[in-house]
Amino acid sequence: MTRFAHITGWGMAAPDRVLTNDDLAKMVDTSDEWILSRTGISERRIAEPGESTATLAVDAALRALESTDINAKDIDLIIVAPEYLFPSTACIVQDQIGATHAGAFDLSAACTGFIYGVNMAAQAIRTGSIENALVIGAETLSRFTNWEDRNTCILFGDGAGAFVLQASDRPGGVLTCVMRSDGSGESLLSLPAGGSKLPATHETVDKKQHTIQMKGREVFRFATRVMASATREAVSLAGWELDDVTWVIPHQANMRIIKTAARGLRMPIEKFVINLSRYGNTSTASIPIATCEALQSGRIQDGDHLVLVGFGGGLTWGALTLEWVIPERKISRSARRRRIILVLLVRIRSFIRRLRRKIEGVIWGTSSSDHL
Ligand code: COA
Repeated sequence: MTRFAHITGWGMAAPDRVLTNDDLAKMVDTSDEWILSRTGISERRIAEPGESTATLAVDAALRALESTDINAKDIDLIIVAPEYLFPSTACIVQDQIGATHAGAFDLSAACTGFIYGVNMAAQAIRTGSIENALVIGAETLSRFTNWEDRNTCILFGDGAGAFVLQASDRPGGVLTCVMRSDGSGESLLSLPAGGSKLPATHETVDKKQHTIQMKGREVFRFATRVMASATREAVSLAGWELDDVTWVIPHQANMRIIKTAARGLRMPIEKFVINLSRYGNTSTASIPIATCEALQSGRIQDGDHLVLVGFGGGLTWGALTLEWVIPERKISRSARRRRIILVLLVRIRSFIRRLRRKIEGVIWGTSSSDHL
């Protein structure tokens, strides 16, 4: 029997702290008028000291699970965009939500990561190797931003968005995907230091090589080229015409890039879901956050044809087509309450496991590098 991969749960998380264009104008030589006219961004969210990619990812994941009829232990696979080189953010999410049967890994494809991740999860479901997956786009780019560089600090924001994908025999869900890359453009958008090529030194810190470096005009040209071509390819693979598309949910990087893509596709801009004025570019989180808001406002309806299209560092880009099927389910209040209790128990279990390792350390000795 043919298997389909449906999105049955969605959730988002954004820090409470808002940084407006006027706030930025007090930090660097810029203005609200310049930022708004060149990018379409008015404000963005910035993580507080206690927040990180992992905490935002966990919050989005729990909200996505809340709207489904499965529990965390039913999840077979968790895919997240990265925070540390290792351990993976996906493992931290796995522990914090209690997904005791899940494999978990991070996927690095910059802002295109969410499209790649949803496609990987859908393929694993369609082959029959897993039943349920959780894909999360989560970012705290504010921690990698040079707040003295007006070319980049105006663009990015923090947030997270998550989809739960489930196997079904009902046609629809994720239909087609194109994933592309071009490493010859590696220097256009990068975080140069902190890896094996340029490990952290005083010099890399002094030169601000642990912050985002970007050639804005080149990225702009690349983005406008690939958004339209990837959308056309994914739509054609699905056997649709562009007129069949109900909504395009683009990576929220720049309003001018989105408008150029819409013109290139000869599609009305009203068909594009856009919320970048309030969040800025949240990288891998931008597409799921925009999707969540469109669902919450009732714009996306059962049977709608969606295109999710993104681009980013690497260079990477991709587009995915979806036939949106609203899941049939009723989650009782008691089930919701049970889940809240379950999350608390999961946190207690994680604490006990960490404590047990500490006690074992006291009895058997610890490594000199132990910092946990
Ligand atoms: N405020 C005021 N002036 C600024 C500024 C700012 N924040 N940033 C740059 N400028 C200045 C430049 O110094 C330049 O001045 P000059 O002409 O005296 O040299 C002028 O504005 C034009 O700069 P330019 O880089 O050509 O502007 P732009 O129209 O290309 O807009 C970006 C800059 C970054 C907004 C635009 O290139 C862009 O959005 N690129 C894509 C970036 C992106 O999406 N990255 C993420 C991909 S996932």
